[in-house]
Amino acid sequence: MEKRVVCLAGDGIGPEVMQSAKRVLQVVERLYQHKFHLQDELFGGAAIDEAGQPFPARTLAACLASDAVLLGAVGGPRWDQAAERPEKGLLALRKALNVFANVRPVQVDEAAAHLSPLREEIVKGVNFVVVRELTGGIYFSFPKERTAEQATDTLTYTRREIERIVEYAFRLAQSRGRKVTSIDKANVLESSKLWREVAIEVSARYPDVELEHLLVDAAAMELIRRPSRFDVIVTENLFGDILSDEASVLTGSLGMLPSSSHSESGPALYEPIHGSAPDIAGQGKANPVAMLRSVAMMLEQSFGLEAEAQAVENAIAAVLKAGHSTADLGGTETTVSFTDRVVQTMEEQVLVGRGR
Ligand code: NAD
Ligand code: IPM
Ligand code: MN
Repeated sequence: MEKRVVCLAGDGIGPEVMQSAKRVLQVVERLYQHKFHLQDELFGGAAIDEAGQPFPARTLAACLASDAVLLGAVGGPRWDQAAERPEKGLLALRKALNVFANVRPVQVDEAAAHLSPLREEIVKGVNFVVVRELTGGIYFSFPKERTAEQATDTLTYTRREIERIVEYAFRLAQSRGRKVTSIDKANVLESSKLWREVAIEVSARYPDVELEHLLVDAAAMELIRRPSRFDVIVTENLFGDILSDEASVLTGSLGMLPSSSHSESGPALYEPIHGSAPDIAGQGKANPVAMLRSVAMMLEQSFGLEAEAQAVENAIAAVLKAGHSTADLGGTETTVSFTDRVVQTMEEQVLVGRGR
């Protein structure tokens, strides 16, 4: 198989975890005889420095012409006062690709339950997906204005926007545990009242899937108290952003959670849920797992390469199980040495599987 992947390394630890991703993709190429054309493009703060803006036209054109886009992370204190911040480029990229469905799986393997700061019996068996609406809500609604004395953000959702993301969640639930938890703030927000109404309407088309509603404040508590009760969570853009960072604690670190973002047609976007981590950037400390799992999601979801995706996942699980991890999980591995172990494990496992 031959595929074109646009690589947007970005800022901070972005280039460090992108390097790991490329190494793993090269191993997949070699072990399974594929060809991935990895095309680097400027994005985020790096693009501001080189091209004067976070999301240059050339980068947009490359992404639109690709089979998938892989992103590290953007942002950092250097650009916090920039006219157009790196984060603005990220929002523009998501909008340009129309990737409204952001899928953030949260899974705790038996062998990795001890990595969480929460008690093992709480996180054992955790296996849910946060489906976050990614191209609407308070991030994208107008008016958005600022004077010296007042600042305004607006939270708008259309029925159509809610319907398509809730549909996405129900279809996903049909292939999993058949339960959707819709999270809103319907006791206060008009947008949430419409959200809940539409969720109930959509659920009528999926009689085989259970629907429950939770208010976002209570949901934040339930995520820590009894996370194994969740199967598919569906929620609006900002709630999904916050709750998924919270959920990462179940796995032990923000450096563990991957994501994929899908449109109705066109290239999907794959990125870890974490940011550019300026506090550890350039020190070789970044945990590459979130990025490598994003690679596995790309192999499976965009390219249909299930065995290849599984090989990446299995290798990560085996390395963690053997007690190797980066500092965020209490270990002593660097980004590079952890990646070395994943690469080596993939080679061993695949060759053993082929009887050599
Ligand atoms: P962050 O996610 O970058 O970091 C939060 C904490 O988690 C830090 O202590 C960091 O060291 C740690 N961490 C994150 N990823 C890690 C990894 N892979 N391995 C080990 N530790 C990891 O969030 P922040 O510090 O609030 O934001 C920093 C910058 O990143 C900001 O400019 C923000 O806007 C941006 N950001 C970008 C993205 C993205 O590009 N998708 C996502 C979130 C934040
Ligand atoms: C994420 C990030 C982004 C978001 C920021 C950097 C715009 O936090 O991908 O989770 O809020 O969506
Ligand atoms: Mn976030």
